[in-house]
Amino acid sequence: MPHPVTELLLQRNSSAKLTFPAPDGALLDTLLQAAFRAPDHGLLRPWRYLVIEGDGLERLGELFVASALHESPDLTQAQQEKFRKMPARAPMVIVAIASIQEATKIPEIEQVMATSVGVGYLLLSLQAEGFGGMWRTGPLAYNTETRKGLGLADNETIVGFLYVGTLDGKAKAIPNHDINTFVKQWP
Ligand SMILES: Cc1cc2nc3c(=O)[nH]c(=O)nc-3n(C[C@H](O)[C@H](O)[C@H](O)COP(=O)(O)O)c2cc1C
Repeated sequence: MPHPVTELLLQRNSSAKLTFPAPDGALLDTLLQAAFRAPDHGLLRPWRYLVIEGDGLERLGELFVASALHESPDLTQAQQEKFRKMPARAPMVIVAIASIQEATKIPEIEQVMATSVGVGYLLLSLQAEGFGGMWRTGPLAYNTETRKGLGLADNETIVGFLYVGTLDGKAKAIPNHDINTFVKQWP
């Protein structure tokens, strides 16, 4: 039998349908601490997180609409409504940001990777504590207006919008992978 931690990894699953509750208080702090344990070349801590809930999600919806309109001014009302409602897909959105430090020999990609590993840990720890999540990006993650509205500096990148809450409905099936497709002995 695999260790429970290994079993959790094997059962990791994204949840597109999320409802209340989301984690809060000391538990949320603990989950974020798990993200901060990502391997980190040079111990730069090249990340920061924004936690968005309640009215903040409505503000994020408005920002998404404004950002999408900036790219495509001809969006129909229905298309705008789709962007407005995106943050309402979960009771909490955590924006994971890589804050790239330039005065270092550690390459930018490694700083983004370290932040990304943290997002993976956050997803896992959410599931371990009975919650669910889904990592999303899409064009809005790279949109200048979204970046501006969320207060990103020039050296920062949105690594993901982590939608967080409690699984609504049944978990989806976990795929089986053929080890030989992805792994070879070398030489
Ligand atoms: C960087 C990154 C960005 C992603 N962006 C999206 C997205 O915008 N929309 C989406 O449906 N899935 C996105 N995904 C994929 C989902 O988070 C999820 O991994 C996928 O649905 C497969 O489900 P699973 O994680 O349970 O295997 C993204 C994943 C990563 C790593």
